[in-house]
Amino acid sequence: MRNPVMLSAGILGLSAPLLRRVYESGAGAVVTKSIGSRPRSGHPNPTVVAVDCGLLNSMGLPNPGVDEFSEEVRSLKRWGVTVVASIFGEEAEEYVEVAEKLSEAGADALEINCSCPNVREVGLLGQDPGMVEEVTRAVKGAVDVPVFTKLTPNVTRIGEVARAAERGGADGVTAINTLRAMAVDVETCRPILSNVTGGLSGPAIKPVALRCVWEVAESVEIPVIGCGGILTWRDAVEFLLCGASAVQVGTAIMYRGLGVFQEIIQGIEAYLRRKGFGGVEEVVGRAHGAA
Ligand SMILES: Cc1cc2nc3c(=O)[nH]c(=O)nc-3n(C[C@H](O)[C@H](O)[C@H](O)COP(=O)(O)O)c2cc1C
Repeated sequence: MRNPVMLSAGILGLSAPLLRRVYESGAGAVVTKSIGSRPRSGHPNPTVVAVDCGLLNSMGLPNPGVDEFSEEVRSLKRWGVTVVASIFGEEAEEYVEVAEKLSEAGADALEINCSCPNVREVGLLGQDPGMVEEVTRAVKGAVDVPVFTKLTPNVTRIGEVARAAERGGADGVTAINTLRAMAVDVETCRPILSNVTGGLSGPAIKPVALRCVWEVAESVEIPVIGCGGILTWRDAVEFLLCGASAVQVGTAIMYRGLGVFQEIIQGIEAYLRRKGFGGVEEVVGRAHGAA
């Protein structure tokens, strides 16, 4: 990657031209929307609601299916975009089918989404260390590109799940996906999301995400990609200090537009200069040394 600030999965991630725009706005790599083996329409509206401290979504993994989406990946590669394909399934065989097709289409790496809180089978899979290990091992065995496993914060001990991914052969882990949450409309006296619950993202979850990255970094040797509520370069540096080697940015685009990538990258560079650090690697995990 040309820099350590990536787009996270599911935000502007379904079309090649949009992903290209994100890359051209400065992201080091883009992660696609999570793709499954077949087309899927997701949950009925309403699926997204802004809450005072972030965003609540219950999209239900809508996507065109791997065969159609492979064309988007091919376009991205023709345009020279560094692309991580996010994949999901209900069982290991489905993950493998999607992984094989998207890596053949040219994806530079794969991110296993076993952490979506809005699709029961996928959310449950990521809470079971045995399943996380099995799916990671199956995908790793099927492709030559690097494989990252994306972890859910909706577990008691995230370090254990990270270790399972590492045992399965993951080249890295991404932490975190969204937190299960809900919102209620006092006029209709009903939950706002059609799916009742959704996943919370944005500034509200940053302290939780930092704690997760900290615990994961203490549990595994493989690189950690930090994600959750990053809005500014300061947020990104906090994640690096907790042990992330790279970060992902999603909901911040809603608050700050695509300029957020340049702001964060330039902010990190200025921080490195001001503090006299030779590079990002000198910052990664530094907070653990002082603990
Ligand atoms: C509208 C929306 C859709 C998302 N879709 C996906 C997805 O398809 N796959 C996935 O792994 N994560 C998905 N996520 C989770 C994000 O990739 C990210 O983990 C989470 O939003 C926390 O980061 P943020 O606070 O920077 O947005 C989605 C998030 C949002 C807000």
